[in-house]
Amino acid sequence: MAEADGARRKVTIREVMRMKAEGRKVVVVTAYDVLFARLVDSAGVDIVLVGDSVGNVVAGFDTTLPVTIDHMIYHGAAVRRGVQRALLVVDMPFLSYQASEESAILNCGRVMQETGADAVKVEGGSTEMARTVAALTRIGIPVMAHLGFTPQSIRTMGMRVQGRDAADADRMVEQAQALEAAGAFSLVVELVPAALAARITDAVSIPTIGIGAGPGCDGQVLVLPDLLGLNEGFAPKFLKRYAELAGTVRDAVGDYAKEVRAGEYPRADHSS
Ligand code: KIV
Repeated sequence: MAEADGARRKVTIREVMRMKAEGRKVVVVTAYDVLFARLVDSAGVDIVLVGDSVGNVVAGFDTTLPVTIDHMIYHGAAVRRGVQRALLVVDMPFLSYQASEESAILNCGRVMQETGADAVKVEGGSTEMARTVAALTRIGIPVMAHLGFTPQSIRTMGMRVQGRDAADADRMVEQAQALEAAGAFSLVVELVPAALAARITDAVSIPTIGIGAGPGCDGQVLVLPDLLGLNEGFAPKFLKRYAELAGTVRDAVGDYAKEVRAGEYPRADHSS
């Protein structure tokens, strides 16, 4: 982490790219509101991602497909108010960048303007997507790309490990190289075999950020409620929980309810 530098220097795109060259792992976590944004930023992560996973973990949708640009702007702006040091990336939702280069430029530009994000993230590795990434980076919008399982394509891909067969794996390596050539500054690699993630990492000079992709990537990303143990039903093999906050929250609220019902809270010394 840039924290190792000792300073509270703001993380830049250049710094994130230098981390790969210097063999320093890039730490990425999602956030969706100002309270957690402040906490993860002060914990010293390198990148805060306002993921469209907000649709799953905050709004309770089954997929990310219903998430809109307005949702991303609302959450992106809230997170911006809590992040001072980390690089802030806002995810572009389904349909906001796939239809044409022009709509991608207008929508990504709007998200940058209205959230104060440092960069946007888009999913996919088609030739058209590489062209879109080139169009965005040409006008000064930094892009984090995303390959492997791309949740906005869940209806066609299903939620499963990608790149298991040799042809798919070769195609993914080529797509990663095309996205780098188009100007992407980093690449999320989601749900692919560890050996393929390591191969992609070797094939590009931009940092790869893995999730469910093994230890061979240049960095890792986790969805914050998952790593904090707040998302009780969700336990994929790749996930490590660093806390069990669901139980802590339930116990605290249960204690509060018990004390209110028993007339034990508030006491006289809680009153003004
Ligand atoms: O939406 C999201 O949170 C993401 C990460 C899992 C990479 O895309």
